[in-house]
Amino acid sequence: MKASKAKTVYVCQSCGTQSPRWMGKCPDCGQWNTMVEERVEKPREIGSAKRHDGAEPLLLGDIKAGEEDRFVTKIGELDRVLGGGIVPGSVVLVGGDPGIGKSTLVLQMLRQVSELRGKALYVSGEESPSQIKMRAQRLGVKAENLYVLAETSLDEILRAADELQPQAIVVDSVQTVYTSELPSAPGSVGQVREVSGRLMLHAKRTGIPTFLIGHVTKDGAIAGPRVLEHIVDTVLYFEGDRGHAFRILRAVKNRFGSTNEIGVFEMKESGLAEVANPSEMFLAERPKDATGSVVVSSLEGSRPILAELQALVASSKLAMPRRTCIGVDYNRVSLLIAVLEKRVGMHLMGMDVFVNVVGGLKIDEPAVDLGVIAAVASSFREKPIPPDMVVMGEVGLAGEVRAISQAEARLKDAAKLGFTRCILPAVNVEKIEKSAALKKMELLGVRTVEEAMERLF
Ligand code: TYD
Ligand code: MG
Repeated sequence: MKASKAKTVYVCQSCGTQSPRWMGKCPDCGQWNTMVEERVEKPREIGSAKRHDGAEPLLLGDIKAGEEDRFVTKIGELDRVLGGGIVPGSVVLVGGDPGIGKSTLVLQMLRQVSELRGKALYVSGEESPSQIKMRAQRLGVKAENLYVLAETSLDEILRAADELQPQAIVVDSVQTVYTSELPSAPGSVGQVREVSGRLMLHAKRTGIPTFLIGHVTKDGAIAGPRVLEHIVDTVLYFEGDRGHAFRILRAVKNRFGSTNEIGVFEMKESGLAEVANPSEMFLAERPKDATGSVVVSSLEGSRPILAELQALVASSKLAMPRRTCIGVDYNRVSLLIAVLEKRVGMHLMGMDVFVNVVGGLKIDEPAVDLGVIAAVASSFREKPIPPDMVVMGEVGLAGEVRAISQAEARLKDAAKLGFTRCILPAVNVEKIEKSAALKKMELLGVRTVEEAMERLF
């Protein structure tokens, strides 16, 4: 016998056309793969005498901001990315490649919740309780107050949560959870959306902060749905290179804080450790006096991070010389190579150019332009850049060096690590007050790429 299911329809996500059956192409707007299963909601009776539990308009002045309620996990890197701690009733989506350490991160967070606040619930649809236990042992998590539920039915999860009344819930992963109200398979767009919508309502109603783990597709978006990103309050991405130990937690959307902040962790034998001084880590293996290597400063949120940028220029046997960029934007590097050819007269035409940011870091900030130019020039001329020098500045097509933001913060960071010389835009030099922290730093202001070349070599 067939169990009775709630009524569902397929709705085109592009134009809203409804159909009782799934179709590959929307008959109305002609878009492909836009039909997503949705539950049919009974329409509310309009104008019915009975008031439903809707909210009243409030005076803005009467509303409390609720900042004081944030729960500080004491994992500093996580707290900062969240905007200063976990907000009650918030729903946070954590995305990332498989094996990057999402489960480890949330388990360490739940440890803090369970030790500092009270009960915490870890729902896993991917791993058995014994697997979770093994990871917890590896992390040295004490079992007190931390509950594990291996379940994929949404109704069961919500029931367990209501019974337990935890201080935080983690659902690992949202793609494994299903609601029986939709016949489609777990992980389908319809299911993921329905499940996260219901979890969101639950979080808002109970005030329990809820963390959803989401898988990431090949092209880097959280699997299933962009829509998921619209539903939740905060979207965090956990990134990193498998070949390297460090991991970066980045806020892509945050209703309760800045999206510019990043948190840096290092994956160790016993879990994720915070990296308080990322610059030190990224520069740890820097070769001294090697050509094509330069230290640049990249601003990640409010935090400057020093990184090593390398370039290798070699004569090419190809008709179309290769330009390979890892960690920096390809188009930007092409543009800067053109500037070097035209404004400095460097013949890079028959040369392969490779540019790489060491450590798997990705930099997308114009302030590293001058660094790219310096690295390419250093490799081309086979002259090393002094090891105690940092290079920063944006470069325009006319070969002019433009001002960068927060030069002072970047300089202080560099000074802390023992750098004593910095090439930076002249405009910035004029504005900088020589504080005690910058006493030993020699500031070499430049206006054009040619001037920078003179200062460098
Ligand atoms: P995991 O949190 O399971 O990743 P995800 O949930 O994102 O798929 O972590 C997977 C990797 O992390 C795994 O390859 C082993 C490594 N790891 C450590 O190096 N140290 C540790 O303490 C733990 C728990 C995992
Ligand atoms: Mg996992």
